[in-house]
Amino acid sequence: MAVPVRTKSRRRQQLEEAALYPLDWVEERSGLVGALKYFLFRKVPGDISWGHTLGSATLTAFLVQAITGAILAMYYKPHPDTAYESIQYITNDVTLGWLVRGMHRWGASVFIILMFFHMARVFLYGAYKYPRELNWIIGALLLILGMFEGFTGYLLPWDQTAYWATVVGVNLQGTGPFLGPFLVNVLNGGAEIGVDTLSRFYSIHMLLLPGAIFALIGLHLWLVIRLGVTSQPWSPEAAGSGEPEEPRPAREGLVRPARSGGSE
Ligand code: HEM
Repeated sequence: MAVPVRTKSRRRQQLEEAALYPLDWVEERSGLVGALKYFLFRKVPGDISWGHTLGSATLTAFLVQAITGAILAMYYKPHPDTAYESIQYITNDVTLGWLVRGMHRWGASVFIILMFFHMARVFLYGAYKYPRELNWIIGALLLILGMFEGFTGYLLPWDQTAYWATVVGVNLQGTGPFLGPFLVNVLNGGAEIGVDTLSRFYSIHMLLLPGAIFALIGLHLWLVIRLGVTSQPWSPEAAGSGEPEEPRPAREGLVRPARSGGSE
């Protein structure tokens, strides 16, 4: 029996074309839609696990920090005379300010903890080995910058805890060989913690470090897409008994084609 073929009505076709027009417009001029499709529909190992979600969880935590930080920056006043009051104002008077501040404060710990969990997964799966060494190094830089982000943010409420924790932190850096005293001077903006220290910490915390972290995350993700992700070392796929991988068309010969198993 012949199966009836359902054709789209003219109206439906027109509606679809109208809805897709902006995407086609962007794609034709930038290729961005194709790039996004490539990112979302790329191949991953068949035995992908929950452990592989930790990188994206870390990314989500960072984005939450960026968004809540941008909102806090609208109300925060980085001067010793006003910083503490502006934080009190955010917490007690701004609508949902307590929530945004709480998310930013606790989210900082979540971000660091997730980064460590993600790093542990990468280490356990041997994903730091060839050809992913560079991505491990970029990850290590992200970890250092992330912790420095926490350190610079801690001073901003300008209360007793913030002040003395920063005195201890800065003095610790001063004990470092050769660069120690120079670093103290750069961070303090002078001999002691004061007006200049607060504005320096604020600028480092909300411009310099987030910018550097965003750039490094971009590089990190580009390498993840280029090299693919690693299977668990104990899975048959990593041992090479799974389906043979298709050869990679791009940049053949520049690097050995990445294997899904990192435990070679
Ligand atoms: C801002 C912090 C970070 C973000 C947003 C981030 C994000 C990601 C994402 C989304 C992936 C792919 C999915 C996955 O494997 O979970 C990934 C993979 C990877 N990350 Fe990170 N990461 C961060 C920090 C780190 C750190 C601290 C290290 C190690 C020192 C690291 C090393 C790696 C490596 C080697 C891979 C490739 C893993 C594989 O091939 O299986 N990352 N990262």
